[in-house]
Amino acid sequence: MESSATAGPVARNRPVTPPDLTAMKRRDQRIAMVTAYDSPSARLAEAAGVDCLLVGDSAAMTVLGHESTVHVTVEEMLLFTRAVARGARRPLIVSDLPFGSFQVSDRAAVKTAIRFVKHGGAHAVKIEGAGPMLPRVEAIVSAGVPVMGHVGLTPQTAVALGGYRAQGRTAQGARRLRDEAVALERAGCFALVLEAMPPEVAAAITETLSIPTIGIGAGPDCDGQVLVWHDLLGLSQGHVPVFVKRYANLAQATLSALQAYVSDVRAGRFPEEQHTYSMIDGESARLVGHADEG
Ligand code: KIV
Repeated sequence: MESSATAGPVARNRPVTPPDLTAMKRRDQRIAMVTAYDSPSARLAEAAGVDCLLVGDSAAMTVLGHESTVHVTVEEMLLFTRAVARGARRPLIVSDLPFGSFQVSDRAAVKTAIRFVKHGGAHAVKIEGAGPMLPRVEAIVSAGVPVMGHVGLTPQTAVALGGYRAQGRTAQGARRLRDEAVALERAGCFALVLEAMPPEVAAAITETLSIPTIGIGAGPDCDGQVLVWHDLLGLSQGHVPVFVKRYANLAQATLSALQAYVSDVRAGRFPEEQHTYSMIDGESARLVGHADEG
């Protein structure tokens, strides 16, 4: 399905790895990441040349209908991760460790991360936050699982941050974000998501780090970009953050298709002959014959 026009800079005959992303940063080649939660989406993203698939805990909202990301469970995230892993061969698959599955101890963090690799098919995990989470990153990396960090607006702790709002808008806040990013690189992260911060802050962090940054609402100077599947394709309902660019309106297309289906069913226009099975030659007549005998 993949064409050479859409394939990324990493060789097409092998999966993308964390060092490939670092090499892309060095070569100034932008990294394209998108969330995915199921097999058909993963297949399409791969065909489009996406480098990295994030099985985001945004699934809590986009797929499961929760109000925030904190409600999704490890079992649910494993289900989504397995589906994505079955759908894609080449992109690096990164799974979010859900809220509550890594915060309590290094041991819990390592056990959960290993489950995602061993039983989910993920290549790496993402965890939100810095500070107290630094030992968690070190422990998971020491266990052999690559970790993507996430700073700025961290949805799992949005309440503590005062809601879903941009971070690092003061010099002090910006310095804090830069310090967190540096600490996460030192702890062993192979890449960092920078969410919802002024572009100059993200640019300064990107310049400081030798690992790649993947921005969402963090301006054009990150080493890559990520968008949530449902936002990118116009499938999400309600409030849409300013940083979202909609590349399609699939909600409208889906609604129109469903309305046409309902209308066809009600009017008896569906199914038509081409949507039905025929009986083997001669069997129809025998069925009528039996009906007469009966
Ligand atoms: O869960 C998610 O989709 C994310 C992205 C917003 C980066 O963490």
